[in-house]
Amino acid sequence: MSDVREKARSLLAPALLFHTDIVVERAEGVYVYDRDGKRYMDFSSGLAVLNTGHCHPSVVKAIGEQAQRFIHSGCIFYYPTIVELAERLKEITPDGIDMFFFSNSGAEAVEGAIKLARYATQRQGIIAFGGSFHGRTYGAMSLTTSSVRYRKNYHPLLPSVFHAPYPYCYRCPMGKRSEDCSTECLAYLEWMFAHLITPEEVACVVIEPVLGEGGYVVPPERYMKGLREFTEKHEILFVADEVQTGFGRTGRWFACEHFGIEPDIMVLAKAIAGGLPLSAIGARRELMERWKPGSHGTTFGGNPISSRAALEVINTIEREGLLENAKKVGDHALRLLQELKKMHACIGDVRGLGFMLAIEFVRPDGSPAPELLEKIISNCIKNGLIIVECGTCKNIARLMPPLTTTHDEMQQALSILAEAIKDSL
Ligand SMILES: Cc1ncc(COP(=O)(O)O)c(C=O)c1O
Repeated sequence: MSDVREKARSLLAPALLFHTDIVVERAEGVYVYDRDGKRYMDFSSGLAVLNTGHCHPSVVKAIGEQAQRFIHSGCIFYYPTIVELAERLKEITPDGIDMFFFSNSGAEAVEGAIKLARYATQRQGIIAFGGSFHGRTYGAMSLTTSSVRYRKNYHPLLPSVFHAPYPYCYRCPMGKRSEDCSTECLAYLEWMFAHLITPEEVACVVIEPVLGEGGYVVPPERYMKGLREFTEKHEILFVADEVQTGFGRTGRWFACEHFGIEPDIMVLAKAIAGGLPLSAIGARRELMERWKPGSHGTTFGGNPISSRAALEVINTIEREGLLENAKKVGDHALRLLQELKKMHACIGDVRGLGFMLAIEFVRPDGSPAPELLEKIISNCIKNGLIIVECGTCKNIARLMPPLTTTHDEMQQALSILAEAIKDSL
C-alpha cells in the first residue's frame, strides 16, 4: 500500500495534492474501503462529485452498456445520449436555460461561459467575487480568488476581470454587522462603475450561488435578488457557476432555486455524470444562437459514456427521492451542528444548505483556527470519517456526503466528528 503512495510521490507532479493517505481498494455508496479492508465514510464525495454515491449500480450498469455500444464521437457523428441529456437538463434547470454546450471539466465550462458572454455581448469586462473558485485554467483562474496560491507566479492573468466582495456575513468584507448591514457589498458594484469600468463594457457577472472552495458561504437572499436586478438594469449577463452546488447538493437541483434566480448562463460539472468527466454550459437559446458555428468546440465534450452516465444520475436522483433526502437529512444535520456549536467555543459558525454543510473553526480571539481543523480531520480519518477543509485560511470543515446518505449514516458521521473535536482540543 505504501508502495502506491511512494510511487505516486516519485511519479506524479507534486503540484497535485492528495487530501488523505488512503489507498482505495473499492467503494460503494457512502463507503470507501482501503486495501486492509478498513472502511471509511466518505463525506467528501470525491469533492462534491459522487452525489449518487460511489459506484451506484444503475450508473455502473449504464456505463457498461454504453461502452459496449459506442464510446466516442469527436463531433463526427450525432448520437442519441447527447440530445437526450440536453432534453433532461432543459427540464431540470431553471426556466430560460434551453440550449447546452458540453465539455469535460468545470474549468473548461467556465472558460466556455466567459467566451460565450463576451462573444454574445461584444463586451469584455467580467465581474467575479472575492473568495470564489472557478478553476485553474487561465480564464477561470483569473476569476478565482479563494486563495492567492492558485494565482501566485502565473501573472499576467486575463485582463478586464474585476472583483466585488462576496456577501460572507460571518466575516463581512465591508466590516458590517447584521444589525447595521445595508448590503454595502451590493452598493460596491455601483462604486466599481464609477471608478473601474462602465456598465456598458461589462459582459457578465460570474458567481457561485453558494461559495464552495472559498468557505461554503450561503449569501443572503436579498443580496442575490439585488444582484439579479442589478444585472438586468445594466443588461449584464448573470452567470451562475453551479459546478459544486449543482445536481441536488443543496437539496434542490440547483442552488439558484433557493433565491428564485433564473440565470442567463449556467455552468455545470462535478456531480453531473456520477464520477465521469463531463461539464456543460446551459444558456438562453437567444444567447447560444449568437455563437457562430466553429467559434467554440471540443473533442471529448459530452462523450457518449459520460452523457449516458449523466442521464442515469438524473434518473437516480429522481427515482430515489435524493433531493428530498438531502433536504431532510441536511436540515437535521444542521440542527445537530448548531447544538455542537453551543458546546464548543472553537466553533465560530455553522451553515449550509442540504448536503453542503460547513463548520468554521476559530481561536479564542475569533481568528481562523486551521491548526485545530487539521487535528480534527486527522482524528476523523483515524475513526473512519473522511472530511475535507475549505476557506482561504483552511479553517472550515465541509461536509458534502453523497445525497444517498441516510439519517443513521449522518448520525454516525456526526458522532465521529463530535468525538474528533473533543479529542483535538
Ligand atoms: C464552483 C467551481 N467552479 C469550477 C470548478 C473547477 O472544476 P474542475 O476542477 O472540474 O475544473 C470547481 C472545482 O472545484 C468549483 O468548485
